[in-house]
Amino acid sequence: MRSRLFIALAIGLAIAWSGESSAQTNLQLEALKRLKNIDIESNPALKKIVLKSLEAAKGTPVFVEIVRDFKLKGHEAALIRFAQAHPKESTGVEAMRLALTEPGLKLVADAVNGTDAKAALATTEALANAQFLKAEPILLSIVKDSKKPLALRTVAVNGLAKTKTGTKALLAKAKAARLPADLSFAAGNALRGVRWKNLRAQATKLFPPPTGLGQALPPLAKLVAMKGDIANGEKVFFRPQSTCATCHQVNGRGIDFGPKLSGIGTKLGKEALYLSILDPSAGISFGYEAWLLKTKNSAEALGIITSQTDDEVTLKLPGGIAITHKAGDIVSRTELPTSIMPPGLQATMTPQELVDMITYLHSLKQAKP
Ligand code: HEC
Repeated sequence: MRSRLFIALAIGLAIAWSGESSAQTNLQLEALKRLKNIDIESNPALKKIVLKSLEAAKGTPVFVEIVRDFKLKGHEAALIRFAQAHPKESTGVEAMRLALTEPGLKLVADAVNGTDAKAALATTEALANAQFLKAEPILLSIVKDSKKPLALRTVAVNGLAKTKTGTKALLAKAKAARLPADLSFAAGNALRGVRWKNLRAQATKLFPPPTGLGQALPPLAKLVAMKGDIANGEKVFFRPQSTCATCHQVNGRGIDFGPKLSGIGTKLGKEALYLSILDPSAGISFGYEAWLLKTKNSAEALGIITSQTDDEVTLKLPGGIAITHKAGDIVSRTELPTSIMPPGLQATMTPQELVDMITYLHSLKQAKP
């Protein structure tokens, strides 16, 4: 009988277990894998071995395999931890799918809504990659929560747009005008590219693609693949209607307000460069957050805080001028979730000029002082 063979194997394994070398452990796991369809609940000896090997495999892909193959219950917390460590790999995503049981869903929601920003993002990434029906309500709740960082909500939007039901849910929210406005770019970009023709058409109506001088921009993935002219891109960057040089310096040319771009091609790849222009608020450069300052004597001012002590705060304004305010004069200071860099600047250039300008920025590899 088959089950007798299994028990013999299991006893063999148990004996082999006493002298645990890693080669032996591997062998045992191989043997265990062959047993995977057996019901270990009716076989205490085998269950003990499986749980022991599970313990030894913690934090490795084998852990996920054992939980899956033996349909083990109650390991959601460890599965979620594994998914958080590998949110973009297939084993991490599989761990997340296995973790989406009733108790697991609650732990996932806790991680997504918790104070640990890194864990929240990693959990959302794994959820977004899981393409799992049960993950969709959580992803939708992230999308709707304007208090969460835009980067996190963008990951959730991209995850929902991977499935038909998620795409439909996003479109319904957009139609009801219940999608936060700052997600328009990310939602449009993801939804206009879905593979269901009818849904794609609805998305293009709801989110017309950004235009450059009246011409529709190709999707991001196409833009990234297009070739551009560096010399013409430099001209586009510095011509007045683009306004870039009123806020950025390249090798000393332009006004010093936003980050210097002399070495930007080393810091950002092409896709990130496009995003920084098409959707500036999606990833705000550290130290360049927008602050709204209200003082006793002047109207409110929007700028970047370049230094602050107990006594005073210096706010740099677009145009490059810095003003120092006494702490006692400041009525309030509020950090805005949006970038000071305005969206839509590509509207002053043709799609090809945009490609040229990005090619130019991408060629700026060395930061010169
Ligand atoms: C009103 C001022 C302003 C204008 C105009 C402006 N930017 Fe910006 N830009 C900023 C600020 C502030 C940041 C940093 C905050 C952020 O990342 O959004 C920034 C960030 C960037 C970044 C990312 C830099 C980094 O280190 O991550 C790039 C690239 C960029 N801008 C390119 C451009 C280009 C190209 C133009 C013209 C089409 C332009 N900017 C126009 C203010 C401006």
